[in-house]
Amino acid sequence: MTRLIFLGLPGSGKGTQAAILAGLLNIPHISTGDILRNAIAQVTPLGQKAQSYMDRGELVPDELILDLIRDRLNQPDAQNGWILDGFPRNVSQAAFLEQLLQELNQACDRAINLEVPDEVVVVRLLARKRPDDTEQTIRRRLEVYHEETAPLIDFYRERSVLSSINGDRPPEEVTESLHHLVNG
Ligand code: AP5
Repeated sequence: MTRLIFLGLPGSGKGTQAAILAGLLNIPHISTGDILRNAIAQVTPLGQKAQSYMDRGELVPDELILDLIRDRLNQPDAQNGWILDGFPRNVSQAAFLEQLLQELNQACDRAINLEVPDEVVVVRLLARKRPDDTEQTIRRRLEVYHEETAPLIDFYRERSVLSSINGDRPPEEVTESLHHLVNG
């Protein structure tokens, strides 16, 4: 049973690698960004509330995310492991997750930090052209990561579950390192 949290800058490859690894391990890949983008595409109340924050590169408010994660981790397919990609995103989300996992009698095995320099992710994201991949929004997403999400590296290091992987390599090499780490 594998339960992983992926940390890393926007564009570090969390979504790419989480999808591959989840397929290899046959566990769900839970991306809060994908859930929010689907909600926007389907014009649900969640999507309507989230859109302006995402367009600006700000985090959406915790109250839009926490119930959603509680529901998702209670689904049957999440009882045999999961990869969380894009959650938690700040210390209050991490504290919420810790409490939720206690209630579910589960624990995260590893928080994996994909390390890629800021300049590299900017080039990757400008090439991708998602709606929030404009230069201004990318810059704000990076600032928000450094201010709000980077403290989680220490949060998980203190809990002795942090691992770091060099994400500034061809995707296949990153996948191989992740696979090795998880099976290790
Ligand atoms: P989210 O969807 O989580 O976006 P992000 O963190 O900005 O991450 P990205 O999807 O941009 O990057 P990634 O690391 O997944 O890289 P990827 O594999 O896609 O969040 C979007 C927004 O939603 C947030 O700004 C916020 O508003 C909101 N949100 C989401 N979760 C939230 C939460 N918990 N709380 C509050 N708000 C939340 O790769 C990027 C590109 O690089 C791709 O084109 C890919 O092909 C390429 N690439 C990948 N790996 C490599 C490689 N090794 N070499 C070269 N290119 C590569």
